[in-house]
Amino acid sequence: LEATLAPPRLAGRRVLVSAGPTFEDIDPVRFIGNRSSGKMGFAVAAAARRLGAEVTLVAGPVALDTPAGVRRVDVRRAAQMREAVLAALPDHDVYIGAAAVADYAPAETLPQKLKKAGESLQITLVRTADILADVAAHAARPRLVVGFAAETQDLEAYARDKLHRKGLDLIAANDVSRAGHGFEGDDNALSVFWREGRRDIAHGPKTAVARELMDLVADRLEAEA
Ligand code: CTP
Ligand code: CA
Repeated sequence: LEATLAPPRLAGRRVLVSAGPTFEDIDPVRFIGNRSSGKMGFAVAAAARRLGAEVTLVAGPVALDTPAGVRRVDVRRAAQMREAVLAALPDHDVYIGAAAVADYAPAETLPQKLKKAGESLQITLVRTADILADVAAHAARPRLVVGFAAETQDLEAYARDKLHRKGLDLIAANDVSRAGHGFEGDDNALSVFWREGRRDIAHGPKTAVARELMDLVADRLEAEA
């Protein structure tokens, strides 16, 4: 009974989550995308809400229902996701960058369908801005900035490098080379790193993994208070 009467752990907190892929348009019918389903980020948003947080979800193009009680902003391209995230940022306590943001986008989007010609085709791509690093360096920086790291090798080394380089508080790494660990599926497993610690979240449904991640986020918020 006592547990049911205790206030939820994230009551009064505001959590901003980005989720899903971004689609970078080449022309009116083609784009560069990636295999992110958005399920992990949506599960994180739902878990944060269930723990009592006020949640804003900036979503790339995904086919998922909005979790109950969550405010959702839909975007397509990395540049639009960055704008939506930075616009929503003030007064948030936590940012969780679960989106699989394109690292490069076409230098230009053609107004007409590109016609087939020649035996090869080159498309110039330009680097996108790093939303997560920009959030971590922002004047309205949330107390806790959490990144994801999708890796296929040397998980801890690459994840810790991102943690330091981007100025994050936590990074949740998943080994996307392993079946059922990350993109597309309903299950995941995470290794979460912070400066002085590590917690492994066992393989399971993304909903359960997200709940554990949000418990860790609540722990870290309390530890830094
Ligand atoms: N990220 C971002 N903006 C980008 C690229 C990545 O906000 N333009 C964020 C992702 O949302 C994720 C984290 O950075 O939280 C790590 O993404 P990942 O692709 O693993 O790392 P990168 O820094 O892009 O490096 P690389 O792809 O070379 O491993
Ligand atoms: Ca990347």
